[in-house]
Amino acid sequence: MKISQWLGAEAKTKKGNDTKTGTKPTILPAYRYRLSPMGQLFRTSEGRPLIPLVVVLVLGVIIGFVVASYRPYPFGPISTLAILILVLFVLGTLYFYVRFLETRPTISSKNIYLLGTVILLAILIFRLQLVILSSLHQTFPFIPLHSFYYTIPVALGSVLLTVLFNARTAFGAAVAVSIITTLMVTEEISFLLYGIVGAMVGAFSIRRTQERTVFYRAGFWVALANVCTVIVFVPIYGWTASTLVYGLIASLVNGVLVALFASTLLPVLEYLFETATDLKLLELSNLNQPLLKQLMKTAPGTYHHSLMLGELAEAASEAIGANPLLCRVGAYYHDIGKVRKPAYFIENQMDAMNRHDKLSPSLSSLIVVSHVKDGIEMALEHRLPPTIVDLIPQHHGTRVVTYFYEKAKDSQDPDLGEVKEEDYRYPGPKPQTREAAILMLADAVEAAARTLTDPTPARIKGLVQRIVNTIFTEGQLSECDLTLKDLHQIGNAFVRVLTAIHHHRVDYPGYRFEEGRKKEGEKKGDGDTDSKLPKEDAGRVVTTKKGGGEDVIRLGETEQ
Ligand SMILES: [Fe+2]
Ligand SMILES: [Fe+2]
Repeated sequence: MKISQWLGAEAKTKKGNDTKTGTKPTILPAYRYRLSPMGQLFRTSEGRPLIPLVVVLVLGVIIGFVVASYRPYPFGPISTLAILILVLFVLGTLYFYVRFLETRPTISSKNIYLLGTVILLAILIFRLQLVILSSLHQTFPFIPLHSFYYTIPVALGSVLLTVLFNARTAFGAAVAVSIITTLMVTEEISFLLYGIVGAMVGAFSIRRTQERTVFYRAGFWVALANVCTVIVFVPIYGWTASTLVYGLIASLVNGVLVALFASTLLPVLEYLFETATDLKLLELSNLNQPLLKQLMKTAPGTYHHSLMLGELAEAASEAIGANPLLCRVGAYYHDIGKVRKPAYFIENQMDAMNRHDKLSPSLSSLIVVSHVKDGIEMALEHRLPPTIVDLIPQHHGTRVVTYFYEKAKDSQDPDLGEVKEEDYRYPGPKPQTREAAILMLADAVEAAARTLTDPTPARIKGLVQRIVNTIFTEGQLSECDLTLKDLHQIGNAFVRVLTAIHHHRVDYPGYRFEEGRKKEGEKKGDGDTDSKLPKEDAGRVVTTKKGGGEDVIRLGETEQ
């Protein structure tokens, strides 16, 4: 079975695409969703906008009934219908807010479900809390019921959504949840204001999600915002001293509940929706993770390459405002498939014996390309989130394993027929996100930089420019959102990091490590790498003439 078939058992191909030019059709990979009921729903919805709309509608109706089941107004079919319409209107507005303002990954059907689920969960929790609050009011009748209402953690939805998506989505949801909750709880406008202020502060209280305690910080800021709002209400609504005291206590309880519910619900949502939040990524970036340990022991060369790639990709990502953590973690796991046949990748060939010497170029190419399929399998076995799994095939896109392709052409046997370029291509898809594109560029740059014997800044710059240009002209970046400005900034970041890594040190007196090394003249600003490669590295870089200039293409075994 071909890898492309394995990757995309349900691959949808666009008509008119040409595999030969590398513009392979976008694959909707079958591996992307596990066969859980939730995974099946996501998979079925892919590319069918009507299904998420229907699901959102159903969620809206459920939320509407939940709201209608607890209301301070008369209950009846007409009022229930009115509430349903109002709730659907609010959720519909939120849906279009997200659709128009968010970038592509956020509005995938899976994320729409996630958004709807968070709102549904929040409203269900508030509804259950109302039951408890009613009994508490009966126990403590001297405390006004509306003071109890101020303990309802309206900011819960926005805090969760900031971590799961971003503050922009959370802001929209904060308004929607506040309106729906007020509709359910009370007629008082003060409650709506209180809820909106708390929810907005909740959305913006999380700047960087570095650890799970972030929710306690968010809870603190929400509580502080609540306290301020309640104090402001005293002159506006003429609150008495006792109402103020109850309000202040409720504000603090509110903050605590936000922190507790958010920290409990997030792992569940991460698991059900297979989402890679920053917190999940931080866990995966721990080098003690079993998969990374296995990589270190079995394929130490690849492990080191992955760590270097992490540095490069993170710097480039920061330069263009992409997700640095995703890039770093993606880099750590991008070549995980090499664990299955480590000796076939030159960075792990410690004994200097090249296993490919005894193999035909086509078989060598198959083995090299198979690290993508193996990587996906291993990533799925270890339940890595789809965002990370996607980076494994995309870091090679539909590029050609140039080293073996050229080797096959050179040693072509006329009886075996023509050597076809597509037989030496990776299955794709091309990078679909900026992070995947950064990984592809960084992967090529990192491997090529190892071949530089005298890595001066000028040579590093020349190497980076040629690799970025080659990947761009090959059309590998045609399906992601990188701009030319981004490419320029990514290149600069690579040069900065590589120059820092390969900086010169003063010689150790008494040690002549470099003895015997040929002194090479330095051409300023040209950055030519191929002419200055040591003999042992010469076979690792393939150069071709393209468009009048020399382009460093891919490295046979080193760049997989
Ligand atoms: Fe790699
Ligand atoms: Fe690779």
